Amino acid sequence: MTRTALVTGSCGLIGSEVCSYLARCGFEITGVDSNERAVFFGPEGDTRWTLERLRQGIRSYRHVAVDIRDREAILNLVRDLRPSVIVHTAAQPSHDRAASIPFADFDTNAVGTLNLLEAVRRACPESPFVHMSTNKVYGHLPNTIALRELETRWDYDDPAYANGIAESFSIDQSKHSLFGASKVAGDVMVQEYGRYFGMPTCCLRGGCLTGPNHSGVELHGFLSYLIRCNLEGREYKVFGYKGKQVRDNIHSEDVAAFICEFINAPRSGEVYNLGGGYENSCSILEAFALVESLSGKPQRYTYIDENRIGDHICYYSDLRKMKAHYPGWGITRPLETIFTEIVDSWARRLSRVDLHATEMASVG
Ligand SMILES: NC(=O)c1ccc[n+]([C@@H]2O[C@H](COP(=O)([O-])OP(=O)(O)OC[C@H]3O[C@@H](n4cnc5c(N)ncnc54)[C@H](O)[C@@H]3O)[C@@H](O)[C@H]2O)c1
Repeated sequence: MTRTALVTGSCGLIGSEVCSYLARCGFEITGVDSNERAVFFGPEGDTRWTLERLRQGIRSYRHVAVDIRDREAILNLVRDLRPSVIVHTAAQPSHDRAASIPFADFDTNAVGTLNLLEAVRRACPESPFVHMSTNKVYGHLPNTIALRELETRWDYDDPAYANGIAESFSIDQSKHSLFGASKVAGDVMVQEYGRYFGMPTCCLRGGCLTGPNHSGVELHGFLSYLIRCNLEGREYKVFGYKGKQVRDNIHSEDVAAFICEFINAPRSGEVYNLGGGYENSCSILEAFALVESLSGKPQRYTYIDENRIGDHICYYSDLRKMKAHYPGWGITRPLETIFTEIVDSWARRLSRVDLHATEMASVG
């Protein structure tokens, strides 16, 4: 029997990777994406190039340009499709953008998630439901861990966090940003539909999810954006913490691989911290050095001596729970490979933009 996957945010970084991955596993794919990223971030966030790529690359791909805030449309879509799995990646994904669009942020991240959960409960409650959550649900609390300053990065100075942040870390009583708060609401709802209704749901609390298919912009997708700045000779703004703030980076295909593991052996109401772990972590300064070594171009940047509100000083995920529950899964793309892929992808995309601009100029 054909298995069907409903992937929301299908034109985003994670959604598009999941579509390709599940299609290779034999699923028929229905993608939901209203290109809201272009509304949130302007033309640079436009994901139509990804929709084209999906249409060309996946024979069975069917696109539904519906907004997940449209409850009736979502209830009807899920009722008619009764998908075998649901992977929910659609979101307003920016910590910083949320403060200026609080209704759009909450309606998308919290209410949109509820619309999907309830639609699935009514139509196909046995279908695994994977939700992309975020490490921002921990709010600023990771910043209260004792730190030590090294030459190019901050690191934990508390043996309790030698392996990174685990899922048992508190999400309560901290400053989250409006984005973090709307994602907490979605995250807790997804857990509740697992615990209360027994549905096979899980929340993946992402660190820095990245890869060559990201339309990185200043407000979201730091690595993709940083590399684009390097290649274009644009100035990158470093906000506080001496540029030594640490992120753990995971390739979107490793994210999709984990989602597939969960789908094949689902559990109920689970939570996993999904990032690159210590091995794939880097500070902004270290990221500059790595991209410079690959592109041969100096990184231009300015330092603003004020951190983004609630920004983590040092965050890397403790991957032990994921590996204990799904021993077949592990990180396959080390940091250097991730950087190389993103550099190559931007080089290709930017040369196409140049070509297009030259063609337009000659037509004009
Ligand atoms: N990229 C990261 O570093 C990161 C880190 C932690 C968590 N996450 C989470 O992972 C998920 C996917 O992130 P991403 O990086 O792929 O984001 P993305 O912005 O690349 O993709 C999200 C997609 O959802 C679509 N979308 C947004 N609102 C919509 C709506 N109301 N209706 C229909 N479609 C809508 C957008 O157009 C976009 O294509 C999000 O939940 C995000 O919060 C991402």
